[in-house]
Amino acid sequence: MRTKRAILLIPALCSLLSSFAQPRPISPDIFGIFFEDLNYAADGGLYAELVQNRSFEYSPSDRARNGSLGADNWNPYTAWTLQRHNSIENLSIETAHPLNANNPHYLLLDVATPGTQGCGIANEGFDGMVLKKDLPYDFSVWLRNFSQSPGVKATVALRGKDGQTLAIDSLTLSSRDQWQKYSLTLRPEAAADSAQLVLLFHQPVRVGVDMVSLFPTDTFKGHKNGLRADLAQTIADIHPKFVRFPGGCLAHGDGLTNIYRWKRTIGPVEQRVAEPNIWRYSQTHGLGYHEFLQFCEDIGAKPLPVIAAGVSCQNSALCRGTGQEAIPMEEMPAFIQDILDLVEYCNGSADSEWGRRRAEAGHPQPFNLEYIGIGNEDHITPEFEERFAMIARALRDAYPQVKIVGTSGPDPSGEDFDKGWEAMRANDVEVVDEHYYRRPSWFLDNLTRYDGYDRRGPKVYVGEYASRANRLENALAEAAYMTQLERNGDVVEFASYAPLLARIGHTQWNPDLIYFDGKGVYPTVNYYVQQLFGQNSGEQYVDGVLPEGLRTASAVIDPSTGSLIIKMVNPTAAEQTVPLDLSVVKNIKGKKGATLTLLSGPDPKASNTRENPSSVLPSTTEFILPSLRSAFSYAMPPYSLSVLRIPLKK
Ligand code: AHR
Repeated sequence: MRTKRAILLIPALCSLLSSFAQPRPISPDIFGIFFEDLNYAADGGLYAELVQNRSFEYSPSDRARNGSLGADNWNPYTAWTLQRHNSIENLSIETAHPLNANNPHYLLLDVATPGTQGCGIANEGFDGMVLKKDLPYDFSVWLRNFSQSPGVKATVALRGKDGQTLAIDSLTLSSRDQWQKYSLTLRPEAAADSAQLVLLFHQPVRVGVDMVSLFPTDTFKGHKNGLRADLAQTIADIHPKFVRFPGGCLAHGDGLTNIYRWKRTIGPVEQRVAEPNIWRYSQTHGLGYHEFLQFCEDIGAKPLPVIAAGVSCQNSALCRGTGQEAIPMEEMPAFIQDILDLVEYCNGSADSEWGRRRAEAGHPQPFNLEYIGIGNEDHITPEFEERFAMIARALRDAYPQVKIVGTSGPDPSGEDFDKGWEAMRANDVEVVDEHYYRRPSWFLDNLTRYDGYDRRGPKVYVGEYASRANRLENALAEAAYMTQLERNGDVVEFASYAPLLARIGHTQWNPDLIYFDGKGVYPTVNYYVQQLFGQNSGEQYVDGVLPEGLRTASAVIDPSTGSLIIKMVNPTAAEQTVPLDLSVVKNIKGKKGATLTLLSGPDPKASNTRENPSSVLPSTTEFILPSLRSAFSYAMPPYSLSVLRIPLKK
């Protein structure tokens, strides 16, 4: 079942190199990303919806842990304000006669006297809505005219920070006592960065309001219910080969009732279940499984969904390692069936039950799922092991071609790590996920970690790693470590930095790879390292170009572009020279045509911020190769990552 890469070494590629430097096959999918809805990564982040708390499902209990309610103002009215204009009205949150059972709460506005300019509600979005001049925005809302009042008019407007109207339109409410969707398009006449969406009623009415939505039409690839284009493009620019989603801790969840259930995240958005996540806020699931799979396809990355291994996060209820809960055995068959149904959603034909659901969502062709993650850095308990084995067995029986990515606890060593690896071997999984958040010195001290890994056992996924800050010195420690991953790309199948996204002002975890606010995206220095490795990955490793024993550099072949790519990291304050021997590669096109991309700076503490987003940026120049026949010295500048790209004859 495991891919035998040696047989993929096709003769044409072998001829690219001399007989002295046979390339070693390495994972063609090594560098990817890990997306988790943490730090407002999804709602208020990658998901382009501008209305916050659009279905009034926020609840103080989202914030509650260990019996305490969060101190902040988090409830069904969060992000909403009543707009009165001398009206007489009553506002309440109701659950009787909801839009549907998955969407239990709605706002009831009972307008006795609408006042001078109408009575209604305004939504401030996430820290104020950022709007573009003249761009069409899709507005929609579900309303129910409980009073059956005839001819009720509502206006929908975008309002700037000083109260100016940027766009306005109106709708007339049906007098029927049933939920109905209303849609219109708004086009702001000026740009704004603290705008509100306003919905006002102009006649007496008792009206239910739910699923209030405002979407920019310039989403990534133009999808409806799509992704914020600038953020999605920044991610796409990494050229990730895979996307692990939807979490992390979020996937195995805060107790049994909070385990992420993929079926709650598909279908029409108004039927998806909004619920709290383990990071103590609400998730709409507007960015759900279908959108994740679509995003993977859009950016040419393989999907790597992570499903709970039948147990919740050990940090559930803030229990710091002891909060794991296990799904009762009698419920496991249904839980496992959900996992099998997910594979069918991804890979089944459009006339299978779940393939049909995918087709109804606009994607008749399969998504071609190759990998599925079971578990996330779980505490390795007997309950975990029993359930993991049940899931793995069921997947093997039903879908032997889908590779299982197992887990080995939250640390790079220790009891969970050892027991996890043992359990993964016993279950014969293809890949084992390892996690480590450590100091930069740890990364530099562990540059041989994978040299001694058993090549006959499961492969490794470094699913979450980061060196604890966003300074140049951190990024370089990670870069040095990534050269090791490439060198060991015969056993390291995948690697992804974590976490990926953080909205400024809602950041719960530092460091992250990409910071953003409503207006812009601010990639870190660490991001540029990921980007340089992603854009310059290879499929074969070439020994002999770099000196044996050098642990902060790598040399790979990218057959798709016909390039030899050498990456060299100097994490020190002094210039360092590296002897490069290109004579082992016989088919270099010539001394000209190579490029050198440098990521470096004089200050190892430098970082990119919103205020100074370009403190350290990569820059590319032409590089004339001094010699093709004998070794020459390349001088690595202090604190630098150098990427040398050399064209090969096809
Ligand atoms: O990346 C943030 C968190 O770190 C993940 O949710 C979890 O897997 C790890 O502990």
